[in-house]
Parts: sequence; structure tokens; C-alpha cells
Amino acid sequence: MKNVLILGSNSDVAKACIPIFARIGYNLILAAKSFSEEDSDNLKMLEIEYKITIEKHIFSALDFENHAIFYENLKIKPTIVVSLFGILGDNEKAVTDFQEAKDIISVNYLANVSILNIIANDFKSKKNGVIICLTSVAGLRGRASNFIYGSSKAGLINYLSGLRAYLSSYNVRVVSIIPGFINTKMLTINTPKMLTASPIEVANVIVGSIDSKRNVIYVKPIWRIIMFIIRLIPEFIFKKLKF
Ligand SMILES: NC(=O)c1ccc[n+]([C@@H]2O[C@H](COP(=O)([O-])OP(=O)(O)OC[C@H]3O[C@@H](n4cnc5c(N)ncnc54)[C@H](OP(=O)(O)O)[C@@H]3O)[C@@H](O)[C@H]2O)c1
Repeated sequence: MKNVLILGSNSDVAKACIPIFARIGYNLILAAKSFSEEDSDNLKMLEIEYKITIEKHIFSALDFENHAIFYENLKIKPTIVVSLFGILGDNEKAVTDFQEAKDIISVNYLANVSILNIIANDFKSKKNGVIICLTSVAGLRGRASNFIYGSSKAGLINYLSGLRAYLSSYNVRVVSIIPGFINTKMLTINTPKMLTASPIEVANVIVGSIDSKRNVIYVKPIWRIIMFIIRLIPEFIFKKLKF
């Protein structure tokens, strides 16, 4: 049976993923801080139309102590997990107010480590599963304007790389999706169209990654080239670029 757990199912990317997964016959286990009545009605319609089961579970990324219980309580256990929760935060505030920095790091990095470790152990014992996680190009080099968020994503990228190696002999795949900009509620600035993906584009990459053999996927290939060049810039020049 094909069961997918979406962590952060209120995200705009998740909302694009849900109908695609439903259409191809996946049961959905949705995990979010809350669910609206409107969402619940739409999900009911998907269940009927595609003859699938959709379960909703309250999930708080920061409630580390209850992550194990959250996972234990899932009646349907996933074979695929897509982790989409995250916050951008305010970099300027995070430099002066440690609570802001702590929240960004805790949601984007620590919470993924906490919940994905639990899921990884389950998949490892079953010798089956796919873990898909959204990272960011911001995690590939620290920039002046968003290095707290970037460092949390850098930690996540490294964690996923290690987890991939750790699970590789257990028939468990770990896929890191690297988006540039995505046109969602998280994006608060105007960005060039060419560098900005729609949630549907990201959703198609996520769903397509399940049957591919790829480990690290850039949503828009142009970002691979951009980040290659950005990473070549010597530090003494890079530190003067305030972007
Ligand atoms: N948008 C971009 O330009 C961009 C670029 C690169 C990477 N990404 C990454 O893509 C992923 C999806 O983000 P998005 O663009 O779809 O933005 P989004 O719509 O804001 O989605 C982020 C989701 O994370 C959830 N979340 C935040 N804090 C949480 C917590 N403590 N517990 C549980 N859930 C929590 C939010 O829940 P609520 O909706 O309930 O608040 C929201 O649904 C994130 O990991 C983000 O870092 C985004």
C-alpha cells in the first residue's frame, strides 16, 4: 500500500502535492499545526473521488518531546515521508534577539532531526522507505541577509547527506530537494520569474523523485549553475557582497 506522510501539510507546497498524490492513489497522512474546515471539506472530496484514505494529525515541529508519540499514534504508517515545514524568520531580528534565531534553527533543523530520526529508525527496521525533505539554496553559502535561516538549512543539508549514507544499505532513500525561490506565502520579496518556482513545479519534482534514483535535486536546474558560481567566489570578495 502506498502511504505518504506530509509533515507541514499546510504549506503551499504541500497543498500542491496533496491532489497529485491523491490522483496517483496514495493514502495521505497529513501533519500540521492545525486544519481548517475548508481544507477538511476539500480532503473529504479527494477521498471520495480517488478512493483513498486521508488522515489528519496535529503536528508541532517544536514539540520535540511528543514526536515519538505522534509517530506511534499514526494508524497508517508511511512508506514515504515528505518534510515541508519551515520558517524564514527575520534575520535582522535573529542577530539581536536570540529567541528568533533559536526558533529558526529549531524549526528548520532540530525539528527535522528529531522527527526524521524517529522515522528513519522505523524505515531502517522495515528495510523500506523514502524520506524527502525540502532544503534551500540558502544552505549552500551563508549570505549577509539570511545567514541564520541559511545556517539552519546548511545543517539540514548535511544531516540529510549523512542520513542518506547511514540508510543506504537498508533500502531506504533520502532525497534532498533544493529549491531557489518558491512562490508561496513564505516569499515576501519580489523575485525574478526565471529563478522562482511555483508550488506545483516543486510538487511535481517531489512526486517525481520517488521513483528516480537521484539523491539531490535542484527544482530549477539553473540554480545548480548559480550556486556553483557563488561557491567559487573567494571569501574576501564574498564578504563585501551584502545580498
Ligand atoms: N518559499 C521559498 O522561497 C522557499 C525557498 C527555499 C526553500 N523553501 C522551503 O520549502 C519548505 C516549504 O515552505 P513553503 O515555501 O511552502 O512555505 P509555507 O507555505 O510558509 O510553508 C511552511 C509550513 O511550515 C509550517 N510550520 C512552520 N512552523 C511550524 C511548526 N512549529 N510546526 C509545524 N509546522 C510548522 C507552516 O505551518 P502554518 O501554515 O500552519 O503556519 C507552513 O505550513 C520550507 O521548508 C521552506 O524553508 C521555501
